[in-house]
Amino acid sequence: MKKTDYFSAKFENDEFIFLDQTKLPLQEVYVHTDDYEIIALAIERLEVRGAPLIGIAAAYALALSLKKTGNNDNDSAFYIAYERLARTRPTAVNLFIALDLIKSVFESHKNSTNIYNVLLSKAIQIHKDDIEHCRKIGENGLRIFQKKSNILTHCNTGKLATGGVGTAFSVIQTAFTKGLVNFVYADETRPLFQGLRLTAFELEHSGIPFSVLSDSMAASLMKDQKVDLVITGADRIALNGDSANKIGTYNLAILCNYHNIPFYIAAPSTSIDRTIPTGESIKIEYRNKNEILNPSGNRIAPDSYETYSPAFDVTPSHLIKGIITEEDIFFFPYNFLI
Ligand code: MRU
Repeated sequence: MKKTDYFSAKFENDEFIFLDQTKLPLQEVYVHTDDYEIIALAIERLEVRGAPLIGIAAAYALALSLKKTGNNDNDSAFYIAYERLARTRPTAVNLFIALDLIKSVFESHKNSTNIYNVLLSKAIQIHKDDIEHCRKIGENGLRIFQKKSNILTHCNTGKLATGGVGTAFSVIQTAFTKGLVNFVYADETRPLFQGLRLTAFELEHSGIPFSVLSDSMAASLMKDQKVDLVITGADRIALNGDSANKIGTYNLAILCNYHNIPFYIAAPSTSIDRTIPTGESIKIEYRNKNEILNPSGNRIAPDSYETYSPAFDVTPSHLIKGIITEEDIFFFPYNFLI
């Protein structure tokens, strides 16, 4: 049966329309809104997620915050929305880069008669740029393939995580169409199962053969020589290449190092934080204990248990063989200021 196509988010008729990713893969529910608070909540709840998509959604949301205000109220309405959106998730730098781009347009066009439309054009531009970045990441990534390969990936980096076709997923999909991918292993990605729920959904849609495995099975998979390459995305990359990505990515990089398997990151330049020299300064988000004790509303342990639940970890740059961006592939030692 041909699967119906899906999109992560689009802007149409003055509304932001997004696929609620918490309901995938069992239900495909699209939410229509022109309320920035609904978008802020969707980002917090991971209904809209993935570093580039968070930035795009926040840009549209900030533009929408001025859709209904009269010109006199613009200033306070804008900064309240800016602060609210900036509080949604701390780790993906794309969020802050997008919010600041919209803010600088606001500050230079404050007195324009239709500031909403001016901000909206900028949000559309941010979205279009991401579509192009994703395409180029896929093309650049072809250079890492030396043969038809088995790939292991973590979390979700496809159409669902971006405005375009993805980051690491774009590399996998582009290589697959060129006959360079044999098989994909998708880590389930505990505790929120982005691999099991979202990457598997996207791989199935793309017709790429795959298996899902629990995160703890990766070492055994590598020992059995079933993996040629590991590719993941990133939420924030420091100037020296240290990269924050979904919790468990660091484990994979260490395992790759031990098993002599190349470990790559694929991310747009909007995931590079040019203000931080190393990953030490990356703010890591910690999630609610319910996501471990009561996953998908299914209680498996008492609420009295304490949990340790960072949403991201930082992989030191010396463990990363290359960082694939829309500009090029960069290799260790990284210095993104040069
Ligand atoms: O918590 P999430 O689901 O937003 O985390 C997403 C990731 O860690 C992705 O790997 C990252 O954002 C890169 S997406 C292109």
